[in-house]
Amino acid sequence: MPLPKEMRSVTVHPTQPITTTITTVAVPQILAPNEVLIKVQAAASNPKDWLHLFMLGVSLNSGDDLAGTVVGMGTEVSKFRIGDRVAAFHALGQPYGAYAEYAVAPAYTVFAIPGDMGFEEASTIPLVSLTAAITLFRRQGFAAPWDLDLGPDQECADKNKNKKPLLLYGATAALGTYIVKLAKMAGIGPIIAIGGGSNIFLDYRPGMEQVKKEVSGYAKRYNLKLLNSIDAFTENKTWVDISQMLDAGILSVFSSANSYDESGVPDNVQIMYTYVDTGHEGAYKPGMPKQATPEEAVGDVDSAGKFFDWVGNMCREGKFSVHPFDVVPHGLHGVADGLNTLKDGQARGKKLVYIVS
Ligand SMILES: NC(=O)c1ccc[n+]([C@@H]2O[C@H](COP(=O)([O-])OP(=O)(O)OC[C@H]3O[C@@H](n4cnc5c(N)ncnc54)[C@H](OP(=O)(O)O)[C@@H]3O)[C@@H](O)[C@H]2O)c1
Repeated sequence: MPLPKEMRSVTVHPTQPITTTITTVAVPQILAPNEVLIKVQAAASNPKDWLHLFMLGVSLNSGDDLAGTVVGMGTEVSKFRIGDRVAAFHALGQPYGAYAEYAVAPAYTVFAIPGDMGFEEASTIPLVSLTAAITLFRRQGFAAPWDLDLGPDQECADKNKNKKPLLLYGATAALGTYIVKLAKMAGIGPIIAIGGGSNIFLDYRPGMEQVKKEVSGYAKRYNLKLLNSIDAFTENKTWVDISQMLDAGILSVFSSANSYDESGVPDNVQIMYTYVDTGHEGAYKPGMPKQATPEEAVGDVDSAGKFFDWVGNMCREGKFSVHPFDVVPHGLHGVADGLNTLKDGQARGKKLVYIVS
């Protein structure tokens, strides 16, 4: 079927409350060699979809997570066919984002999804799972499951190498749950996970002093040296307290709005910022805090491609469960409601998804 010439696309405005406008724009007819054009069936929101707009004072189609069917490909794309069901991570800040009837993503951040996986479920995976993967397997230095030569008993030297304690704060955030999922699949552990609303985690709600006591108690009881840690919440200076729970090592953080130079952070703890779009750009933005080396950031692009191929395989084998989600009513007209719900901290433990087609 020929592509339509025009489509509906949402522009998100950094107003109080957040507002959107829906305009008619041209469907891209010419693609770069490595690009895939996708008819969007479902899009999902991330906190950055409103956060970045407020930080930069700009309005744009800020959606980056989507699932749908392939309707066009650049000349160098060979791994998909027209009509394939896929999920995709759109490049941050680029044209043709997820809050529209058609979106564009580079082929290496697009993966095929199985016939029995709903588009709504699939749209919750790309951005946050890649953030978790870059954090664990690039910044924290654990061996990636797609590089592990796992035998039938799921054990190998690399996987044993991953048997190191991981301290995770924010375990019930979408990012935290994908970190737990990937860490378990890679044999990382034991994991000391701090979250809310679940009795399988240490509870953050009694406050940081109580969390510190409990973490120290676990570390002593099980004789754990804490050298790897992730703050999947990264708000209200949580990283300062978490850094003090470590023996030394690396603490991953996720907000570019802080410099992380507080005197309370011990000298032997290195704070490392993950920016998920190094998976597209191979570089941080100038001025971003606590960056990895340029050489490491360049390698994130190749790793993103390997990761999404692996995630597609895991989905087909039924080994990759998605984060719980709520469908926000009214499709593209619901995006403002969804982003206000996220901004107000009311989307507890759920991704927010919009059915587009
Ligand atoms: N730099 C990057 O590339 C990048 C990429 C992805 C995400 N991020 C950032 O990472 C953060 C998490 O993103 P997300 O998508 O996972 O967000 P999310 O799912 O919307 O996070 C909400 C969750 O945070 C938990 N939470 C609330 N207050 C908390 C507290 N005081 N301590 C610990 N946890 C608390 C809540 O858990 P309960 O419901 O259990 O209370 C809630 O479910 C956001 O700041 C986001 O911008 C950055």
